[in-house]
Amino acid sequence: MTLRSWFATPIYAAPLQPRGGERLRADLEDECRRLRDFDAAGRRWSARHYPGGYTSYASMNELHRFSSTFATLERRLLPHVRRFAHELAFDLGGRSLQLTDLWVNIMPPTAAHSLHLHPLSCISGTYYVATPRGCPGLKFEDPRLDRFMAAPPRKASASAARRTHVTYPATAGSVILFESWLRHEVVANRVDAERISISFNFNWA
Ligand SMILES: [Fe+2]
Repeated sequence: MTLRSWFATPIYAAPLQPRGGERLRADLEDECRRLRDFDAAGRRWSARHYPGGYTSYASMNELHRFSSTFATLERRLLPHVRRFAHELAFDLGGRSLQLTDLWVNIMPPTAAHSLHLHPLSCISGTYYVATPRGCPGLKFEDPRLDRFMAAPPRKASASAARRTHVTYPATAGSVILFESWLRHEVVANRVDAERISISFNFNWA
């Protein structure tokens, strides 16, 4: 017999820079905290839609256009996104991948981000700015889960490739990329310190 697995779901993880990324990470951390102080509209929106935390998702979501620090992050993200698109065998038909949105997320203790996906994009991802020890990672869901119907649950001993969820640790200075339709969540932060990340969407245009 043969047994092969098909329809794989690639997820990309790498340090943003092999070395020397600490200066940019520290500058970004500074800007993220200042942005929260400055962005009253974002704080109001977050109070209703991002309980306990702050996100600039609905108020300032093109930060790469307005800040040279975030523009530097965009430049450093691009090679990763191109490599991921290459691994995915994307045929862009002469178009190119463009960063459309880039926003800040600050999760103090208890803040959580429930299951969601990123519509109207093809590649999404997160760069980690501050990840206190023990803070939650990024949890992905098997994209076929809503079709499992009567499928039995998997054994606790199931291999990684047979499981319905996988959690990537959040590591400051690193980037995680995934196709935008892949649902994911961040469970509640149980650590007494702020977890800071910068999320983004790429589309092909
Ligand atoms: Fe997300």
